[in-house]
Amino acid sequence: MSLQVAIVGGSGYTGGELIRLLLQHPEVELTQVTSERWAGKPVSVVHPNLRHIKSLAFTSLATLEAVDVLFLCLPHGQAMLRIDELSKLAPTIIDLSSDFRLDTSERYCQWYTTEHARPDLLSSFVYGVPELNRGLLPEARRVTGAGCNATAIILGLLPIAHAGLIDQPVICEVKVSSSQAGASANEGSHHPLRSGCLRSFQPTGHRHTAEVEMALGSFGPMQLDMSATAVDQVRGVLATSHVTLKDRLNWREILAMFREFYKNDPFIRLISQRQGIHRVPEPKYLAGSNFCDIALAVDERSGRLVIMSAIDNLMKGAAGQAVQCLNIMMGFDEQLALTFPGLSPV
Ligand SMILES: NC(=O)c1ccc[n+]([C@@H]2O[C@H](COP(=O)([O-])OP(=O)(O)OC[C@H]3O[C@@H](n4cnc5c(N)ncnc54)[C@H](OP(=O)(O)O)[C@@H]3O)[C@@H](O)[C@H]2O)c1
Repeated sequence: MSLQVAIVGGSGYTGGELIRLLLQHPEVELTQVTSERWAGKPVSVVHPNLRHIKSLAFTSLATLEAVDVLFLCLPHGQAMLRIDELSKLAPTIIDLSSDFRLDTSERYCQWYTTEHARPDLLSSFVYGVPELNRGLLPEARRVTGAGCNATAIILGLLPIAHAGLIDQPVICEVKVSSSQAGASANEGSHHPLRSGCLRSFQPTGHRHTAEVEMALGSFGPMQLDMSATAVDQVRGVLATSHVTLKDRLNWREILAMFREFYKNDPFIRLISQRQGIHRVPEPKYLAGSNFCDIALAVDERSGRLVIMSAIDNLMKGAAGQAVQCLNIMMGFDEQLALTFPGLSPV
């Protein structure tokens, strides 16, 4: 029998991607998708790419029925307020918001400048980056999706953090697309203001800093100095991390270390090409795919290592990674419903 799954907050951008993926999933039956604004209307009214794929209408949260797995795609701050009522509907919860990503209420308070409503539950969630926490997922009943920028940075740094090679701090610049802000209109994503933009909207203080320091801090001291720049794209994250290594290694040695570390991770694609424009990752070729593409460069003058990691924020940074976690949690093939490789040209 198929796994019964529902989505809370399915009219938004991450919810739309989850619907697309779960409708293609051979082991899953998507039973309900909620939206308060669109209850009773077909999901294709909001997500036109899903026209004629399956007849599925939005329902209101109040009419949600019990399922095996509930995906939460609510705005920040909602999941922690509703977690008790939602937990009664499903034994397994995968929350895409930032509500349960950080491990302590102190860390949460420092970065979100407000008290957490349910600090008692923070430790019950597994941070859902499979390349980092694969071993914890099969036993997990609560998983939190990771931030999209945090995912791109973590996957770029993970092999060298694991090897204890990072000399502090790491400096990282992320280029971010407009869909990160969700489907509701705001000043940052309003077309006349966003179009053509190249805006350093968060030179310091980005909240995803906390996730990266938490996730990689388990391997040793981790200080991330992160800046974020908004670019004129709908999807994608490109993280450029600048690292001083404790040991001076050349490009081949570092690539070999990354290859060994990621040898069993099907969604990490290391770029070893050294010539041509495709020697570096570009988010646009990842649109709709769950891959993270990573390239390395070493400044032979200074020894600085530059790691470029790119993802689709709505896929490996949200819905795709959530389905990857589901697959591992349920003992399915990790790649089920996630094999789309992206488009070129696009
Ligand atoms: N966008 C990204 O790149 C990205 C990446 C990783 C994680 N995330 C996180 O994932 C979550 C969802 O992001 P998103 O981009 O999909 O957001 P979104 O496009 O703004 O969608 C939010 C969804 O929540 C519903 N909703 C809003 N307020 C609600 C309320 N009070 N009660 C019940 N439902 C409510 C909306 O439905 P109706 O208004 O139709 O009822 C909509 O379906 C966020 O917490 C975000 O931080 C986003």
